Amino acid sequence: MKVLIVGSGGREHAIAWKIAKSLRVEKIYCAPGNAGIAQIAECVPIGAMEFEKLADFAKEQEIGLTVIGMDEPLVGGIVDVFEQRGLRVFGPRKDTAVIEGSKVFSKNLMKKYGIPTGAYETFSDAGAAVKYLETSKYPIVVKADGLALGKGALICNNFEEARDAVRTLMLDKQFGASGDQVVIEEFLTGREVSVLCFCDGTTIKTMTSAQDHKRAKDGDEGLNTGGMGTFSPTPFYTKEVDEFCKKYVYQPTMDAMKKEGRDFKGILFVGLILTPDGPRVLEYNARFGDPETQVVLPRMKNDIVEVFEACIDGKLDTIDLQFEDNAAVCVILASGGYPEKYEKGFGITGLDAFDGKEDYFCFHAGSKFGADGKIVTNGGRVLGVTALGKDLKEARANAYAAAEWVDFDNKYMRHDIGKAIDEA
Ligand code: GLY
Repeated sequence: MKVLIVGSGGREHAIAWKIAKSLRVEKIYCAPGNAGIAQIAECVPIGAMEFEKLADFAKEQEIGLTVIGMDEPLVGGIVDVFEQRGLRVFGPRKDTAVIEGSKVFSKNLMKKYGIPTGAYETFSDAGAAVKYLETSKYPIVVKADGLALGKGALICNNFEEARDAVRTLMLDKQFGASGDQVVIEEFLTGREVSVLCFCDGTTIKTMTSAQDHKRAKDGDEGLNTGGMGTFSPTPFYTKEVDEFCKKYVYQPTMDAMKKEGRDFKGILFVGLILTPDGPRVLEYNARFGDPETQVVLPRMKNDIVEVFEACIDGKLDTIDLQFEDNAAVCVILASGGYPEKYEKGFGITGLDAFDGKEDYFCFHAGSKFGADGKIVTNGGRVLGVTALGKDLKEARANAYAAAEWVDFDNKYMRHDIGKAIDEA
């Protein structure tokens, strides 16, 4: 079978790597891909939002399965376009991806079906939002309704900050129409956990847990980023937490979507926070996490193409999802200055150090081929260095050792990815 992956980040590189292990796959294409993905897939210069062009390509090449990695095309309805063209595609339709595309939708869904989450109010009028904030308890969180590159949730310590956040999102439109509405939500404290789930519309199966590090600097300081590193599993996601979430979060979410006439097929990414009062859902995403995928898929035993197909065909109940009894840590190597201003185009050296090493991976996020054919930096997050180990401590030591194998000008990383495990 020929497979097409839509996306260009470290997540899509990890998905491509995993798909390449399937005996059922003869060729992989990725649109648009990057220089790392190009080592295992043919990269096609079609943008992720060019749905008709992508569907034309899939028809011409007789693609047997298309996997959508990114949020924007999913929320924009790429799956609907592919289905209308009679193409097999893995991911939720537009009316279902709204669980990520609209925080107002997802919070109202949780409220309606009793899924544990923080208390909140929604506003489509900035004046009404500010009036509500005058009598609110602080800190509080102001969230843009729509997609905002992971930067749409603003933690506000006092009224002035919250008023400014409303102004930034709703009036200055920092994220365009995503700020037409806001959710104002109670500030919850606890450890955050990411759980990615395969869904076939009826059955939901959880993958192993992971934890992201969203802030740019050590000690969770600095600005929010797309994610500076991950580890899996997280010891804080205990058997009790898993049982609670299976009973009150995962299946209830699937059932709720079904009752709303929105059968969820694809990946449901549940962002949890483990509060002193129990787990609460912080957010849903309708796709694989980045960089969670870079630590979860290297631990997965199954042929992922079989699992994708089972989801599409409504047969996920026949799959016994299994993960290795080991651990993985991913350290993101970023361009100095990220997530603000940074330079691109620096040569990357040392990539061949990963060749032939089964427990080490260098997933490319922002890379491309330079004019001389050599690989250069091409983004804020450049590489995700992942290593396996028998436990988290070993995986972390391996990942940090491997992070030194590669180099580029202005290379920047956090040095405390997975440090939380020392406290477990
Ligand atoms: N790592 C968070 C996300 O993928 O949204």
